[in-house]
Parts: sequence; structure tokens; C-alpha cells
Amino acid sequence: MLTKKVEEFCNRQIEREGYSSNLYLAMASWAETKGMAGIAAWLYAQADEEKEHMLKFIKWVNERGGTAIIPEFKKPPVKYKGVPELFAEVLKHEQFISASINEVLEVAIAEKDHATTNWIQWFVDEQVEEESSAQQIIDKLNLAGANAIYLLDRDIMKLRGDD
Ligand code: FEO
Repeated sequence: MLTKKVEEFCNRQIEREGYSSNLYLAMASWAETKGMAGIAAWLYAQADEEKEHMLKFIKWVNERGGTAIIPEFKKPPVKYKGVPELFAEVLKHEQFISASINEVLEVAIAEKDHATTNWIQWFVDEQVEEESSAQQIIDKLNLAGANAIYLLDRDIMKLRGDD
């Protein structure tokens, strides 16, 4: 059974994971309209993953005797300055999500909720990967210079380690 506080923080995370999904959808859609099919595909895949993360939290809250709340989402930006700025934004967002996951973990520990403390470790590991893949893309962009965006658009799907 979740305590009220753990439930509240898990519900906050449902909103954040769902917003992440919409943010990446917005970025994917922007990239698609700019003719960058590879970058768009990577971002669409990220959006799907974030939706899965949201679902994991929804199901956890309900399974543990709480009530998952499906929130409204803030509208993500429609336009992005450019590809390097977009990926800098992805990394910043993932760092924010990592901090947010850590807060849920800290609350679970404080409330002596061992089940949630254990369950959320998957997200701790996942965030390490998500930050690292955003950083890898930024590194590639920095290294490759003028042709970077063309090359990245061609190669980006290979950077997804999980498929
Ligand atoms: Fe589910 Fe990338 O945070």
C-alpha cells in the first residue's frame, strides 16, 4: 500500500513522464517538417518510451492501492532553434527527470516503502541510459562539424542501444 506522500510523488511523475512523451512528439514533428527523417524517427521512438514510463507509474500506483491521476499536459514548444539546441534541450530535460525520479526514491525511502524503493531502481538505471544517449548525440554533433546534422540524421537510429 502506498502512503499518501509516495502516491502524490508517483502521480507527479505520471505527469512528468507524459509531458516528456509529448515534448519528444513535438520535437519529432518539428524535425519531420524540416526533412530530418532519422532524427524524427529517434524522437518518435523516445516519445513511445516515455509513454511506457508513464504507464509503468500509472499501473504501479493502481496496483499498490493508490489512484493514478491522468493529468492535463502543458503544450510543448512547436518550434526549435536548431538540432544542437534541440538535443541540448533533450539532455536538460532528462537531467530534470533524473532529479525527479531521485526525489520519488527519496520519498519512498523516507516513508519506508521498500517495494517502491526497489521498483523504482529500474528508472534510476533507465535515466543513466537516457542521459548518456542524449550526451552521445551531442558529442557526435560537436565532433562532426558542418556535416554533423546530415550524418546524424543518417545514423541516429543506430545509437539506440535497445533495438
Ligand atoms: Fe522517462 Fe526519459 O524519462
